[in-house]
Amino acid sequence: MNQKIRINQKRLQRRLEEMAMFGKTAAGGVSRIALTEEDKLGRETLITWLKEEQCEVHIDAMGNIFGVYPGKNRALAPVLTGSHNDTQPKGGRFDGTLGVIAGVEVISTLRENSIKLERDVILANWTNEEGTRFTPGCTGSGVWSGKLSQEEMYLLKDQEGKTFGEELEKIGFKGSAQYPPLPLHAAFELHVEQGPVLDSSDVTIGIPEGIVSPRWYDVDIYGEANHAGSTPMLCRQDALYAFSKIHQRIRDLAVEAGEVVATVGQITASPNSRNVIASHVHFTIDVRGWDVAKTDNVCAGIEEAIATIASADQCQVEIEHTWREDRADFDQALLKQIEESANQLGLTSMRMYSGASHDMIYINQVARGAMIFVPSVGGKSHTEIEETSYADCGAGADVLLQCIMKSANDL
Ligand code: GLV
Ligand code: MN
Ligand code: MN
Repeated sequence: MNQKIRINQKRLQRRLEEMAMFGKTAAGGVSRIALTEEDKLGRETLITWLKEEQCEVHIDAMGNIFGVYPGKNRALAPVLTGSHNDTQPKGGRFDGTLGVIAGVEVISTLRENSIKLERDVILANWTNEEGTRFTPGCTGSGVWSGKLSQEEMYLLKDQEGKTFGEELEKIGFKGSAQYPPLPLHAAFELHVEQGPVLDSSDVTIGIPEGIVSPRWYDVDIYGEANHAGSTPMLCRQDALYAFSKIHQRIRDLAVEAGEVVATVGQITASPNSRNVIASHVHFTIDVRGWDVAKTDNVCAGIEEAIATIASADQCQVEIEHTWREDRADFDQALLKQIEESANQLGLTSMRMYSGASHDMIYINQVARGAMIFVPSVGGKSHTEIEETSYADCGAGADVLLQCIMKSANDL
């Protein structure tokens, strides 16, 4: 390990603060939803930084941005790092962005120290990881990995009916170059943990063994609209009442299973009038678990509960499986490399798993992959009060730098 080389924490902080201005919210968070004006401005700033670092810049047909720090032997498979720069509505300043900006920081550090590695180092900013505006998420990395269809992703619609393809074109980021070619030698993603484990254990570096399996649903319950005052209680087909019982059951099933989480995050009731019985409820379910059998059981229980409860209330249901990925198991040799780098830097570390999803869920399917986590203060994320200390961001970026230097010098 090159013990002396360190990233520049002040520059990392300055870039994080500058990026947080695009979509800044009053409460100190960020709304930089995929393919909006804020996303566009963030992308342009990223490209400016990459060009300042004399990187080659490529933009592919999904709007993924790649900055390349060329190695000595360009025929060797490259080492890739990066994450996403889009956020949740009223999201945090670190989720995704840290991994992108830390990758730029690694390149800045290599360049200013005149360190030339054997392999190319590629920084990636993946499009629409969050999946909040266009579902599913991880669309950029999913298509790049050949696991999602570009044509189908272009047709995804947001709640206003605008398509992914049109919005990508509108912000000027529908590129064409297919880059980088596979195989990759290794891929690393630095990310904030987004949960309470590191913060409560007072440990700086998290080394996830992998990412839990995510399963997303879109569900419609159809009842019948009728007058709230004149319709007797036992003569109703109330979609909202059926929903409320289903919602409770979803939570109970996850709690009973243990180590599986289930969330209803979005609900729309129609006609949404105080004195009309709801004729339609649309809602989403997000289920995740590390243990595949337990997660399968919870999903089966949820699907059965939806059908049984809706039918008991004389409602119809439609269930759509919007996203399902297998759990990601990371490369053990890379996990060891992260562990050793943390040790050599004098940083505490621990093994864990990732409850949140990441672009690495797809990249890991086509390359050797691993992630580096840093603590989220109070375990908060996907909220404006998400916080990670700049010292911890710097520590994570230093581990990333060491891993990249090591991997990109493998022959
Ligand atoms: C994305 O951040 C997710 O885990 O849903
Ligand atoms: Mn993220
Ligand atoms: Mn996120």
